[in-house]
Amino acid sequence: MSISYIQSMGQTSGCTRRPNLGRQIRDFIICKSDKTSSIDLWFACLIYLPSFLPSLLASFLPSFLPSFQDFLGQMFCTLGEIVGSPASRLEKPLGGIPGKKCGAIILSAEELSNCRDSALMQFCANKLDKKDFFGKSDPFMVFYRSNEDGTFTICHKTEVVKNTLNPVWQPFTIPVRALCNGDYDRTIKVEVYDWDRDGSHDFIGDFTTSYRELARGQSQFNVYEVINTKKKMKKKKYVNSGTVTLLSFSVESEFTFLDYIKGGTQINFTVAIDFTASNGNPSQSTSLHYMNPYQLNAYAMALKAVGEIIQDYDSDKMFPALGFGAKLPPDGRVSHEFPLNGNIENPYCNGIEGILEAYHQSLKTVQLYGPTNFAPVVNHVARYAAAVQDGSQYFVLLIITDGVISDMAQTKEAIVNGAKLPMSIIIVGVGQAEFDAMVELDGDDIRISSRGKLAERDIVQFVPFRDYMDRTGNHVLSMARLAKDVLAEIPDQFISYMKSRGIKPNPAPPPYTPPGHTHHHTQI
Ligand SMILES: *[C@@H]1O[C@H](CO)[C@@H](O)[C@H](O)[C@H]1NC(C)=O
Repeated sequence: MSISYIQSMGQTSGCTRRPNLGRQIRDFIICKSDKTSSIDLWFACLIYLPSFLPSLLASFLPSFLPSFQDFLGQMFCTLGEIVGSPASRLEKPLGGIPGKKCGAIILSAEELSNCRDSALMQFCANKLDKKDFFGKSDPFMVFYRSNEDGTFTICHKTEVVKNTLNPVWQPFTIPVRALCNGDYDRTIKVEVYDWDRDGSHDFIGDFTTSYRELARGQSQFNVYEVINTKKKMKKKKYVNSGTVTLLSFSVESEFTFLDYIKGGTQINFTVAIDFTASNGNPSQSTSLHYMNPYQLNAYAMALKAVGEIIQDYDSDKMFPALGFGAKLPPDGRVSHEFPLNGNIENPYCNGIEGILEAYHQSLKTVQLYGPTNFAPVVNHVARYAAAVQDGSQYFVLLIITDGVISDMAQTKEAIVNGAKLPMSIIIVGVGQAEFDAMVELDGDDIRISSRGKLAERDIVQFVPFRDYMDRTGNHVLSMARLAKDVLAEIPDQFISYMKSRGIKPNPAPPPYTPPGHTHHHTQI
């Protein structure tokens, strides 16, 4: 069972941290407010798979109007509540603003066909009506999928092309589920508007089509008359309000993270631990590296908790582990990439226990020092990632740090370079420091850049460990929540690499048959 589609309408800023582990649904439902105002407001809400998160949090933004993103209210419910309602339609009041009636929201659920194709399309228009008093029109299109009950759900909005009656819109990709729920003959309605700064966009006209029609590609069948019914009724000589032409159409299959893992892509997890003096002297209890025989310190706890989550994806469970920012024996040289087990040739540790052991051994032998340079470990992993760009391996660097970074410029440069490679970085911040620099590296709000070059994709995920601990600081409150947040962005980052390089997953190998159980064809 899954939920009626469907897709984020351009920016849904409240919904950026969505997990996507293949099995999870991470679609958006688009619902219409029943509070009628001069403009219809549309809302997006985020759905998680029920087994992962028992409740469903919906935060509503009028994302149809990007300039009006005020909080309108929120509502909680379970997936079961929606599905169990008559006709799978649940109406509930919105709340969240004290003393204010926020209206109500209707959520509906529909079973998704498991179609995983995406359509890539491009459109242009000709001779659209002129709507602006000064200048021409600023046209954009809104796509709607029709539902089983005859209502329409918004599923895509194009960008606005300024001041033209003959716009050419950028190509866009949309899951076929979103467009027609996998039903090729379902009506798709397209409305054309003239954008207005104040949000009161002028309706130019609309037309309908279907996936089956669009799939015929560029041809005379895919030139649509844009009709404004009101105008048509008023004016005898009305022909149309312009035409929209499909310029190109192609279909591609969407693969999930799990398709690649099943197809044999190896995840190489490298761990890097911050051994700088800002963590405090390991012999004192205030230190994040405090060596206490009875209790795990902050680093060990973070390492164990996060390590246990990520090791599931690493088949051989042998982890290269590095330290940075310490003075090493015998000569007291400062290193920003030393193997925790002291073996440059073979930095692998056996499982999380092996890393913990090597970590404790290092604490006894090295001297915490500084500065806190991230760039060397990022570049270290990047060197290996650069050698395997065929999709057979993907590298994840887990940096555990107190967050007091000293080489911000070099680290940004390293991340911008790493963004071109099959790698991701998870930064776990321990301790109580301000983590502003780490949030900046995370780049969820502003994509990282270095010397004028923008990172090709987002590859950094930052997780402040203290947010997951209880008051005493000795226990992780919710491993499930930590797991979700640590892994939140990896699958999408992984897919974005594979997609950008045109790499498809290998077919999954046939199920393993133990020797001696092979089937022989016997000829009689
Ligand atoms: C995994 O990456 C590390 C570098 O971070 C490297 O030392 C190691 O050889 C890699 N393992 C494999 C199997 O490529």
